[in-house]
Amino acid sequence: MTRLFAPELARACRGSQVFRVASSALPRSILVVGSGGREHTLVRSLLASPGKPRVICAPGNAGIAQEVPCANVAVDNVAGLVALAKKEQVEFVVVGPEIPLSLGLSDQLIAAKIPVYGPTADGARLEASKTFTKQILLKYKIPTAAAGFFSKLEPALAYLRTRQVPIVIKADGLAAGKGVVVAQTRGEAEAAVREMLDGERFGAAGKQLLIEDCLYGEETSILVVVSGRDYVILPTSQDHKRVGDGDTGPNTGGMGTYSPAEVVTPALLARIDREIVNPSVNAIADEGIAFCGTLFIGIMLTASGPSVIEYNTRFGDPETQVVLPRLETDLLALLWAAASGELAGFQLAVRPQHALCVVIAAKGYPDTYLKGDVINFPTSLPPGVTIYHAGTARNAAGQIVTNGGRVLGVTALAATLPQAASAAYAACDALHCASKYFRRDIGARQLNRR
Ligand code: AMP
Ligand code: GLY
Repeated sequence: MTRLFAPELARACRGSQVFRVASSALPRSILVVGSGGREHTLVRSLLASPGKPRVICAPGNAGIAQEVPCANVAVDNVAGLVALAKKEQVEFVVVGPEIPLSLGLSDQLIAAKIPVYGPTADGARLEASKTFTKQILLKYKIPTAAAGFFSKLEPALAYLRTRQVPIVIKADGLAAGKGVVVAQTRGEAEAAVREMLDGERFGAAGKQLLIEDCLYGEETSILVVVSGRDYVILPTSQDHKRVGDGDTGPNTGGMGTYSPAEVVTPALLARIDREIVNPSVNAIADEGIAFCGTLFIGIMLTASGPSVIEYNTRFGDPETQVVLPRLETDLLALLWAAASGELAGFQLAVRPQHALCVVIAAKGYPDTYLKGDVINFPTSLPPGVTIYHAGTARNAAGQIVTNGGRVLGVTALAATLPQAASAAYAACDALHCASKYFRRDIGARQLNRR
């Protein structure tokens, strides 16, 4: 699904990174920035490109390091990443996480004439500032929950008294998924507002907040490869955000995903495109942002239609672990087309199989957890199963150990979702690690609908 490029509108974006690359030849060397399961998946998919490009990663993890050279440069070290790209003479940089994007990594790479997939800092604000995004959604009449904007306690508390509960309180800035409270009672809502505006927990991110009406329904993640006003919608997926079975407990970065999300029927996807994706891409361009990268739209499928919960400006994690394995299309050709301003008319080929990813976390995630537990991997994996590494490292003895909250993403690709689920869970059970924790019900919503 590709929107054609309108030449009269393109002028607004010219001179920006989106239209700066003239070469139609695919790059031969690529730097992937990041260290999670998303980046392991990106590395795998880029390595599978027919031209066999050289891929390197920074900083990577133990699994990525088994496949490509990794440089120990942190994702927030923008100058270090640019220096690495120059030293390694890479022809293309693919940025995974939001932090380097919001710190202006793409701006710096463009200044150094190095093509990059991932938006400049102005585009990354769509993720880094929830109030900025909400203002755009409201200005362009894109469906989203009603909301109030506050930086002072008294007006925020007064507004709360005029709304129903449950109600959603959102800290403005990046808070690693922890800046959102869905308050069930007025007391909880007030406490969240006080904590964000008065407390120190969210730092500068909490000094501005949104109070937003609660939306009800199923969530879906729509990932869109965007290049100015051109875009390609990637296969649909759904994420399980809560830590516990039955969608209970605190929100996490994501405990498991599956693709396709059958709840998004072709007719519903066409509506989402018409009412949300197309107006969003055009609104961003109208705001003067030359966006090149992934626009990840979190959507609530409410009884009255799809409604935007948030924008992210990067691939989802663990959505990427189920979306990319379903692409028949060469990922490098797709991302390069976006970076070169050649995305119009791009045809995506998608595999009919179902993909399901179970995240293995360290017990205690998303709060406190131990690092350094040795992981014993199965000697062989069932067909179609891939283990993507996230928070892993090597200890002094060279063993692979846990090194983060989300440790591994076990993905299976199979003809049906039940087959994908049983293959992924067989691999999860065959994996050993003292602090292993995972949800047992990934895919349940869709499996139970059958
Ligand atoms: P966000 O950081 O904006 O993605 O919010 C994190 C999670 O909070 C979302 O994935 C939803 O599960 C939930 N959430 C955010 N906004 C709303 C809303 N208006 N109504 C219901 N749930 C929400
Ligand atoms: N899985 C949700 C995210 O990447 O933000």
